[in-house]
Parts: sequence; C-alpha cells; structure tokens
Amino acid sequence: MTEQKYAISEYPDTVKVYARLKTLIAQPTRPIRRDRMQEYLNYFDTKCVRSKALNEEARKLIPGGVQHNLAFNYPFPIAIEKADDAYLWDVDGNRYIDFLQAGGPTVLGSNYAPVRDKVIEMLQTCGPVTGLFHEYELKLAQLINRFMPSVEMFRMLGSGTEAVMAAIRATRTFTKKKKIIKVGGAYHGWSDSMVYGLHVPGTGRLEAKGIPFGASANTQEFFPNALGALKAKLIFNRLLGGTAAVIVEPVGPESGTRPVPYGFNQKVRQLCDEFGALLIFDEVVTGFRLGMGGAQGYFGVKPDLTVFGKCITGGYPMAGGVGGRADVIMRFAAGIGGTGEQAYVGGTLSANPLSCVAGYYALLEMERTNAPVIAGRAGDRLTEGLQAIIEKRGLPFVAFNQGSIVHLETSGVMLLDLHNPLKLARELKPRRHMIEEMGAAYMASGLITLAGSRMYTSMADTDQVIDETLNKFDGVLSSVEGV
Ligand SMILES: Cc1ncc(COP(=O)(O)O)c(C=O)c1O
Repeated sequence: MTEQKYAISEYPDTVKVYARLKTLIAQPTRPIRRDRMQEYLNYFDTKCVRSKALNEEARKLIPGGVQHNLAFNYPFPIAIEKADDAYLWDVDGNRYIDFLQAGGPTVLGSNYAPVRDKVIEMLQTCGPVTGLFHEYELKLAQLINRFMPSVEMFRMLGSGTEAVMAAIRATRTFTKKKKIIKVGGAYHGWSDSMVYGLHVPGTGRLEAKGIPFGASANTQEFFPNALGALKAKLIFNRLLGGTAAVIVEPVGPESGTRPVPYGFNQKVRQLCDEFGALLIFDEVVTGFRLGMGGAQGYFGVKPDLTVFGKCITGGYPMAGGVGGRADVIMRFAAGIGGTGEQAYVGGTLSANPLSCVAGYYALLEMERTNAPVIAGRAGDRLTEGLQAIIEKRGLPFVAFNQGSIVHLETSGVMLLDLHNPLKLARELKPRRHMIEEMGAAYMASGLITLAGSRMYTSMADTDQVIDETLNKFDGVLSSVEGV
C-alpha cells in the first residue's frame, strides 16, 4: 500500500477555536480605522486604473461585471493578466501574493510549468476534445484509485456541482430512498437540490430563488457538528421512506470554516451505517489538497462515494468527478442504450483529453514533490505568524488552519446562524461589509485572499513568501480600530 502523507501537522483544537470564535462574535466589530481605510481605497483608484476601466465596460455585458463568486469585488474586481508560482499580476502591473489559489486547485502553485507542458503537448497532438475515449481517462482513474482505494470506480464530470448532482442521483437510484441530509452552511455547488442552507446554517431555501419548492423538498440540513440533530433526522426520515445519503465536507462546512471535531466523520459514518444511508464525502477542496489520500485518508474514514473537483484537473477546466463503491458507481454506465436502473449523467466536454492529461500529471507531480505537505507547512507558518500578530496587537481575531487551508476570522460573519435570528438580522450586513473592507485592505497591500477571511497556500509559498505575507498582514492589522 502506498504510504500516505498529509498536510495537517496538528489537528486544530476545535473546542479552543470555537471558544475564541464565540468571544469574537460576542463583541462589537473592530474594522479598519476610517483614515487608513480611505488610503487602502485610494490604492484602487490610483493604481488599478485599467482594471477599473475594464470593469466598467464589463458591466455593460456581464451581470455585475464579474463571473466568479470567489472574485473579490470590493471596491471593484481587478483584472488579472499573469499568473506564476506564488504570484498574480493585474493588468496595471501590480503584483500580488495569491492565496485565493483559484478557490483551491493550484496546490503546485499557479501555472505550474511541468503540467502546462503536458497540456500543450496534448493540444498539439489531439486537441482539447474528440468525444471519444482517450487513454488518459483510464490513467487518471487508475491514479485516483491508487491514492484513494475507496474509489473503486470513477466517473469524470464537468465540475464539482455536476459531480454532487450525480452523486445524489446515484445514491437515490441505488438506495431507492429520497432524502439527502447536508450540513447547514456547507456549499456543495449550485444544483437545484443543494442551494439549501447555504453559507448561513439554518437558512434552508433562503437563497433558492428560481428553484421550485419540489426541487429541494427532499433536502435537509442540520447545524454544524450537531450529531444528535443528524440522528433525529435519520430517525424521522425512516418513517418517510428513508435517507438516501448524508453529504459532508470532511473538514467542516466552507472548507473547515466551521471545523469539525476530529472524530466527527467517523460518527457520521456509523450513523449512516445504522440507518442504511450512503455517506458522500465532498472532497472538492480537500481531495488531494490535504494529501494524496484526501480527507478520507487523513481521518481514516471510508465514504461510499467521493465527490471531486478543483485538484482533479490541477486547476485546468472541466474539474469534476465522482467515485466510490463499484456497485453504486456502476449506475453511471454510459453509452447509447443505457436503460433500466441507470442514473442519467452526461456532458459533451466531460473527461476530455485536456482535463484528463492535466489531472493525471498534476496529481503525479503533487505526489512526486510532496506538494500537499509542503503547502501544509506554509499554512502552518502563516497561521502561527498570524496568531503571533493577533496576540501582539491584542486583537480578538482568530487564526487556525487545516494544513494549507488557513482561516483568519476578523468579523466572525461566518459564525452567525439561525440559532440567534435577531443577531443574524442585525449583524450579517455590517460584519459582511467588514470582511469586504479587510479583503480590500489585504489586496491593496499585495495579498489576494478568499473573501477576506480564507487563504489557500501552495507549494510555491516558500518561507520568504510567507514572511513577506506576514509583514503585509501586520500592516493591515495595525490599522484596526483600537490598536
Ligand atoms: C466543497 C465544495 N463542493 C462543491 C463545489 C462546487 O464545485 P464547482 O465550483 O466546480 O461546481 C465547491 C466549489 O467551491 C466546493 O468548495
């Protein structure tokens, strides 16, 4: 068996993390001082002139002028021209250290040359797509099976969203049950049944505009880490025909923003077994970022199905797939004439040679270079540095990480939920605006983050890169009110 190595050097003490987050959310916000914030905003007006002009043009044709949910839009989205290693450059020539990492896939660093070379080779011989089988589909499936033995069979798809959709369909076909239980606040893509309890736990269909009630009538959520509530739902569902699947992000919702206690996944596994529900791990982010064995290897828990995205193609397009038990995945058998017990899936460009060759070599390179572990070390250094700054400046902010997934909570907005609806209604907007401002200040300082509160690190983040980053964070955090 292949030796597994993981990005998490020490699992976060979730009791301590939640205690600190609770203290943070109980206090009034500590935003950036107004005079300093004005200086950060001036950066965008004076140094991002071409980005601003492009955005104004884009707004005429593209709704809101931006098409990526994770793009930083305050005060306006900047346009990126060049990506390499740990850095991005915008169209005005400004350089940034990139911790958005396109939302997570670029564990090797941006625009990694050895993978790019293989993609170019493929384009020169085969082009991006033929609609017919290519050997790299098999090579990629074999590789995933080697890294994650629970993936007995694998079906490639176009995105994480599609893969979740397919996984749900397969579990329903296989179990002949309907209910799907997710964790409140978790994002599993934007399919009709999963736009439910998004971002803020307990909000159900709040964001389900344009989605008929019936489409999510069999979706349920439980509050993060509330195993008792999960069990109650499983018991209740048994009376209604049963639960097809429980789907979790194994480090916790939103890439572990609300981290799970170490033993959580094992307990969910046991509950699924007790109630005859299948367990789906959404490893769109953790799949290969936490290590070549994914979160399932790290936690030592075997899901029935695993959903992939992002890393599965090393950041190249059409990143999605679902794998797992052969008897369940066989429901996806394709080709003309598939009938009977099959769950319907499709996709003209899915499993194209470009995506498969990119994924195959990206994963091999990640294994060869030990990229997940190196990226995890960078995440540790960043987190420890942030914790030291927070301590030094006497701030209530909270930094913690799961390897290369680093969280810096300054407004605590992600911790609001429907347990306290009044507080949620009162504080959601101002706390959200605060992280917009924090994100803009980081960006004006040369740091790109995810939503002003999350950083993905990569193999390209050397000690020097992290130390430069920490200097920049210190500059911003020294501008906070009351420091
Ligand atoms: C945990 C998780 N699941 C599913 C998705 C959806 O994947 P995609 O954006 O490829 O549709 C995402 C995307 O960020 C994700 O983070």
